[in-house]
Order: sequence, then structure tokens, then C-alpha cells
Amino acid sequence: MIELRNLYKIYGSGENEVRALDGINLTINKGEFVAIVGQSGSGKSTCMNIIGCLDVPTSGQYILEGIDVSTMHDDRLSEIRNKKLGFIFQQYNLIQGISILENVELPLLYAGLSKAERKEKAMKALARVGIQAKAKNFPSQLSGGQQQRVSIARALAGNPSVILADEPTGALDSKTGKEVLRFLQELHSEGNTIVLITHDNSIARKAKRIVRLSDGKIIYDGPSDDPNAVVSADESGVNG
Ligand SMILES: Nc1ncnc2c1ncn2[C@@H]1O[C@H](COP(=O)(O)OP(=O)(O)O)[C@@H](O)[C@H]1O
Ligand SMILES: [Mg+2]
Repeated sequence: MIELRNLYKIYGSGENEVRALDGINLTINKGEFVAIVGQSGSGKSTCMNIIGCLDVPTSGQYILEGIDVSTMHDDRLSEIRNKKLGFIFQQYNLIQGISILENVELPLLYAGLSKAERKEKAMKALARVGIQAKAKNFPSQLSGGQQQRVSIARALAGNPSVILADEPTGALDSKTGKEVLRFLQELHSEGNTIVLITHDNSIARKAKRIVRLSDGKIIYDGPSDDPNAVVSADESGVNG
């Protein structure tokens, strides 16, 4: 489903060169629940942006459902993004001036669905996260946890191939954060492919598989219940 082959993202040049991604090889299969973890600056967001077709690599290949998207231009890339990917962000990224329903409908509008289809799919997604009663409310009238549910509904509405969640619990209290995580686990058990980005080991453990980044390289890739999965290189001293 997702295949990164010898992938590099390099910023700057000469003395100022930063290898945000430094030779990444990663395959994520359909139905997997993977957490990408690592300390601040390790390359998580860069990786998420490339997997999410929000950015392209400096070199290497990214194959998404058999399509090489690594050299695509913006318009094709946004089309792929719209069809295949659902995003959940730390700050929910809801639009304040429009209703909950309209927020969830927005990606469906970009995808070219009719008004009736948009409403049907959006209401279904809101029901899925248990928040259909708030459809006519505005984001500011909802709690943080409710807003994150709306953003999950928005991610789900288009029936994406992959759900990408970047620190989805980062702005929530621990109880609400746990609810959101449980929800992601539920979506996984229903067959959805989920890639979760987090710097928090206790959250990462909820995924089945952990990929740990350090300085743009993968230093662990395996089951989340392996003790090595939650130990960073500098803590273990293994990688100096
Ligand atoms: N647009 C950019 N220009 C220059 N350097 C960048 C840019 N974006 C990220 N970086 C650098 O790339 C590295 C990885 O960043 P990032 O992917 O944001 O890490 P993380 O999300 O794990 O904190 C960092 O050293 C960061 O400073
Ligand atoms: Mg980041």
C-alpha cells in the first residue's frame, strides 16, 4: 500500500545541509496500524508530509497503491491526496466560520461529489464518531475532544485508503486523548490503514507496529510490544 524506497529529503546545501530523511526504506501494508515515533527534529513531520502527498522527496521513490507519486506535480498530487488520504491534525484544523457538517463536507466538495452525496456521506461519518447531533453547530461551540471527533469524521468521510494522524492527542487532556486513541484502534479493527505520528511512547504502544526515527534514519521497525520499540538510541547508548 505504502512503499518508501531509498527516500531522502534534504534541506539546504553545503554546511547548512539537513538530511530530514536520510535513506528511508519502509513498507506499510493494507490494514496495518503503524506509529512513527522519534524525538523532536528526527524527521516525523517530514515523513508524514511525504506519505500524505503534501511534499515530495529530494530523491528516492514513494509508491502509493502501486502509483509512483514521488515525482508528481501539485495538481495530480492534490488529486491523489483527496482520493486516498484522510488527515487528522493536532490542532483539528477545522474552519471556524462554517458548520460542523460543512467542515466534514469540504473534502468531498473538492472530490467533486454532488450536494446530496456530500451530505449523506458527511452525516454518516459524523454518526460514526457519535456527533451527528452537533452537525449544525460551529467548531467553537464544541469541546476539544468533540472537535477532534469532527476532524476524524472529516478524515473518514471520503473513505480514504490511509488515515494519517499527526500527534492527534497532542492538544487533548489525557482522558480525552485516550478516547481518541481507542477510536483509532476501533477504526483499525474495522480494516482501516492508520499511520500515527507521535513523540509519546505510551501512545505509540497502542499501535501494532512502531517505526522509530532518529536523525532521518529508521533505527527500529517492529512490534510495539518489543522492549526495544520504546527505547531511543541515546537512552540505550546502542547507537552512540
Ligand atoms: N522547511 C525546512 N527547511 C529546513 N529544514 C527543515 C525544514 N523542515 C524541517 N527541517 C529540518 O529537518 C529535520 C526534521 O524535521 P521534522 O520532520 O519537522 O522533525 P519532527 O517532526 O520529528 O520534529 C529538522 O532538523 C528540521 O529542522
Ligand atoms: Mg513534527
